[in-house]
Amino acid sequence: MKKIVFVCLGNICRSPMAEFVMKELDKGEYLHIESRATSSWEHGNPVHQGTQKILRKYAISFDSSKGSQQISQADFEFFDLVVGMDESNVEDLLQISAGRYDDKIKLFRPGGVPDPWYTGDFEETYKLVTAGCRDWLQWIKDRQ
Ligand code: 4NP
Repeated sequence: MKKIVFVCLGNICRSPMAEFVMKELDKGEYLHIESRATSSWEHGNPVHQGTQKILRKYAISFDSSKGSQQISQADFEFFDLVVGMDESNVEDLLQISAGRYDDKIKLFRPGGVPDPWYTGDFEETYKLVTAGCRDWLQWIKDRQ
């Protein structure tokens, strides 16, 4: 089973959305899926209400007890793919891992996923996250 972690700045909006959408798409078949933050800013805080609302709207199950967690060196070691939700997340990941895991670090989609913390547009986030997760799952299946 491939191990994939989605990473954004706060781990309360985009990366948990990707985690739970991907779990729904994968149905436990191919992937071990988690999410993390590049920062410790939201440490322990729950999934953002905007993300929770969207997940409920589209009937995606999620763990409401999940708290934000910053990525660690052990995470870089454990996961096969470390996927930043935007370019600045990827830059931060490359810096945090200091050249040791460059080949595991990927951008979620060309252009990234704009941060709904600033845009307020969780519907747009959901569209981009769902399309990106479908593409990633196909990419992974093609390489099984
Ligand atoms: P996320 O959104 O990276 O998609 O979880 C953010 C959450 C919190 C903050 C920024 C972005 N913040 O500044 O605390």
